[in-house]
Amino acid sequence: MTRQNNKTVQALQWTGNALKVLDQRQLPEAIVYDDYTDAAGVTEAIAGMRVRGAPAIGIAAAYGVALSALKNYAEDPAHWQQKVAADIEMLATSRPTAVNLFWALEQMNAVLNQPQANPLAAILACAEKIHADDIAANYKMGELGADIVAGANGIMTHCNTGALATGGYGTALGVIRSAYQRRPINVYAGETRPWLQGARLTVWELAQDGIPVTLIADSAAAWLMKSGAIDWVIVGADRIAANGDTANKIGTYSLAVLARQHGVKVMVVAPTTTIDWSIKNGDRIEIEQRHQNELLPACYIKEDSLVSAWNPVFDVTPVELIAALVTERGVVLNPAEQGLRGLKNVI
Ligand code: MRU
Repeated sequence: MTRQNNKTVQALQWTGNALKVLDQRQLPEAIVYDDYTDAAGVTEAIAGMRVRGAPAIGIAAAYGVALSALKNYAEDPAHWQQKVAADIEMLATSRPTAVNLFWALEQMNAVLNQPQANPLAAILACAEKIHADDIAANYKMGELGADIVAGANGIMTHCNTGALATGGYGTALGVIRSAYQRRPINVYAGETRPWLQGARLTVWELAQDGIPVTLIADSAAAWLMKSGAIDWVIVGADRIAANGDTANKIGTYSLAVLARQHGVKVMVVAPTTTIDWSIKNGDRIEIEQRHQNELLPACYIKEDSLVSAWNPVFDVTPVELIAALVTERGVVLNPAEQGLRGLKNVI
């Protein structure tokens, strides 16, 4: 059953002929939706991180293909399919790490290439299904994850994995939402430097839902774990290799290493659309490097500066450090030993 996402904020809204994108660069100071009517605009919105978070990126790209189809079918009925195919290529360049982007574009490309009685309706239906399925998966994962952390008092999360990063409700944040509905827990969010997804987005989303949250500097995580306040670190994923190695926001690997030292467990929550079955392990995951100016203090942004910055925005956590992988198809406890194969064939 697809549940309606009425409660949480919506990163993306489809109007029928435009995609409304909540500009996450302006949160939490301002809630501004911009309308996009072509694939170039959606590509820029993803690359510029107006919309971010692996599942939300995939959904936005799917609507980008739908917009391309609507526009090109109207403007150039003889060549519209080639033009949409070119726009799919362009959308694929928007960000490299989140595999949901490529998965969604493959789904859309398959519909584009199938003979259809009403091709525009079929393309749009595919985008809407990708969006609705993601919301349904999040609610399912929320319940499955909440079962696992039933006895926990303290949970820490990283980046933003909520409604803003998905079709609605969230992955790791969905588990935290579901767990909190059952009984109060202490939630801690890391700032997630340099883009501050935790400080700007996660604490805002939780506060909107009436869930108390404590913000910490990323560098306070070890000390917090040592205090005994944290039972679980719960994070999302941008790409999971076939063996369970998990690419997620930079700093996730550090948290997993710290968690092992302090006897804290790590849960990864992600829809199966985040699993890249084509890669054996995390070594082949492309890690996005963003511009150094996103990290550098303004006084060093000049031509003759002696100060540069290294700004990888994801890292890979080896599967051995992950205690539980939660997907909409089920849970894998101790994935390093159990393997992920059981998730592949479940419908
Ligand atoms: O660079 P971002 O903000 O797109 O990175 C997002 C993350 O790393 C999230 O933790 C991940 O996509 C899971 S979101 C459900």
